[in-house]
Amino acid sequence: MIIIKKSHKKYSKYIWQKDENVPLKTDVTTITLQSPSATYAMAVTDDGYLLHLHWGAKVKGDLSYILFGKNPYTLAENLRDKGTFMDSVPLEFPCHGTGDYREPCIMVRDKNNASTVDLKFKGTRTMPGKPKLDGLPATFARLEEIDPECPAPENSYDCATVVITLEDDYLKLRAELFYTVFGDLDVITRSVKLTNFSDDTIYITRVLSSCVDFNHSDFDMLTLNGSWARERIPCRAPLHRGKQSIDSVKGESSHQSNPFFALLSPNTDEDTGEAYGFNLCYSGDFFAGVEVTQHGCTRAVMGLNPFDFSWKLEPGETFTAPECVMVYSNEGLGKMSRTYHDLYRNNLIRSEWNKKLRPVLINNWEATYFNFDTDKLIAIAKEAAKCGIEMLVLDDGWFGHRDSDNSSLGDWVPYEKKLPGGLSRLVGEVNALGMKFGLWFEPEMVSPDSDLYRAHPEWAIHIEGRELTESRGQYVLDFSNPAVIDNIKTQMKTILDSANIEYIKWDMNRQLTEIASTYLPVERQRELRHRYVLGVYELMEWLVTSYPHILLENCSGGGARFDPGMLYFSPQIWCSDNTDAIERLKIQYGTSICYPVSSIGSHVSDCPNHTVGRVTPFETRGNVAMVGTFGYELDITKIPSEDREKIPGQIARYKKYAHIMRDGDQYRLAHNTNYDAFVFVTKNKSEALLTVTQILARPNYPVLRLKLRGLNPEAEYTASDGNIYSGSALMNCGIEVPLSGDFDSRQVYFYKV
Ligand code: DGJ
Repeated sequence: MIIIKKSHKKYSKYIWQKDENVPLKTDVTTITLQSPSATYAMAVTDDGYLLHLHWGAKVKGDLSYILFGKNPYTLAENLRDKGTFMDSVPLEFPCHGTGDYREPCIMVRDKNNASTVDLKFKGTRTMPGKPKLDGLPATFARLEEIDPECPAPENSYDCATVVITLEDDYLKLRAELFYTVFGDLDVITRSVKLTNFSDDTIYITRVLSSCVDFNHSDFDMLTLNGSWARERIPCRAPLHRGKQSIDSVKGESSHQSNPFFALLSPNTDEDTGEAYGFNLCYSGDFFAGVEVTQHGCTRAVMGLNPFDFSWKLEPGETFTAPECVMVYSNEGLGKMSRTYHDLYRNNLIRSEWNKKLRPVLINNWEATYFNFDTDKLIAIAKEAAKCGIEMLVLDDGWFGHRDSDNSSLGDWVPYEKKLPGGLSRLVGEVNALGMKFGLWFEPEMVSPDSDLYRAHPEWAIHIEGRELTESRGQYVLDFSNPAVIDNIKTQMKTILDSANIEYIKWDMNRQLTEIASTYLPVERQRELRHRYVLGVYELMEWLVTSYPHILLENCSGGGARFDPGMLYFSPQIWCSDNTDAIERLKIQYGTSICYPVSSIGSHVSDCPNHTVGRVTPFETRGNVAMVGTFGYELDITKIPSEDREKIPGQIARYKKYAHIMRDGDQYRLAHNTNYDAFVFVTKNKSEALLTVTQILARPNYPVLRLKLRGLNPEAEYTASDGNIYSGSALMNCGIEVPLSGDFDSRQVYFYKV
């Protein structure tokens, strides 16, 4: 619900000092967004600044009194000290240059080469639903279908949007702030559209999408950090004076820092306490900064990384900044995560596969790497089909003359030596086994040893005359250039139309260097980082709209682009190249802080594990991979027969339980050095699935008794051991899970009697 109120109010100047009761008349416009348990409130004062009043637990009534504390937030009262005033008021979209020295949301380079912006309120407009963002992925409105026969009435969207217009009269620059509030979730999304309505070019050098000013700094900051093969490991630390930030400057959202952070009350745990989540719907360079100010307040900002960024905005042009998805929870981290999961499953992931059972796949990467041919693949497929596996995914190495990672990216033509008869023969044979077929691409890349590079060296991102850095022996294509996108599109289309390809793995295996484009004019070179991402989105948009039935899985050297921007196009993302079950517990735990399990690409691989050399039980590997889009990545013709014999049972369990994890609520019960446990509960609370995995066994401790969450306390549940337990007993007293030996894992299924 969005409430916009304009009131002509009388306040005492110092409301809390009775003896100085000087009445003060002022116009105050308040803009209030209400969600089930939270309120987000802003106010405009008579001097035109858009102030932040509150984001947090739900409040009723007018909050404009906050403006009139001991130091009233009205500029009229502070004109001779505007500089000091601007540096202390809570602002919704802080500008650089007029006295606010905290992290700003906007900076420019104007015709005088000056950087100041001063945006004042002009008006609001509200609308049902949510407009699309130009060229960018974003959450979308859902129509609540009251009667499928009738056109939906306007008010049947599950969200509503308010657009607040601010303008700088000097620059003639307009900023439209978009806020969307969702009816049944404590979510606010924010984005910004800038318009140059002057006669001069304005260079935008910084535009962040969200800012929240809190009037205290009693927070911990939670981020998801890591590296290749250990992505999204939670990192929590109390805020300290000054600035703390995460970002990416690599051209992808990165292995190192996910575009997510949360501010938590110091006592916040899984089930209690306040949590404020921020997640940028963007797959390139981002910035998230949290600043504890001189006054002990907190400013939290997020958006496009201003580092090495500049955008030429000609008269009449607009620029749209990506969306920041903000979630409030007053029931700990768990509820924050479940809110993100629900929002992304309902209002972000648009693939028709989102809510469908995904085929159980076998991927040949860890089975063969580059060393395969049609016969080898068919041998794997035959054995896999016998075990009930439903799709063969052919990974890297099927094109050009690619026998290693030294060649052929950009030449999307089947490698005849490995695949005689091409893809159509291979796919035909796979399909004849009753299996689907999926294929790997790395569309954004080019190898120095490729026909594409030989024909168009100018299409690689590079600086003329300067040596170009190789990474994994490859270069990045200049996706700001429409001709490059067209070329790759045509090549992909030829392949996709040549055989029955039902799945694509879209990989991206290196970061950007020597960032310059032969396509863009000199004054637009600093736009390349963002234009590159826009080009990737353009090609993905073409792919998912031209081939809507294809199941698209994103990947970036494992999980370097696990972000909401990618989820808009692909319902699943390869989580990490680390497939060790015990390492995956950490990676998948961290990923679940923000992303639903339905999006987490996860496979059973062979042992000793190729990344860490660990040996874990096949059963445990299955249980861990099931908490994701289940599949296998091993040479099924070579693994021990006792492991192979377990596959049909694992697939049957995956299919029986998939809906609980894919569509249900996740409650993380424990994640420590001894064990990892979580339970998924269906929305109607009639089924639940508990998974517990021991790390290292320890002697002479009581048998683990785990208290579940999320069940109906009044209901009775039958567990897979045949015993009947009350929901209240399971949640308040717990259930014993006898684990034996290192890396042992158990699943317990419950259904309501
Ligand atoms: C990196 C991916 O994460 C792997 O799964 C695999 O597809 C390789 N690239 C192939 O080069």
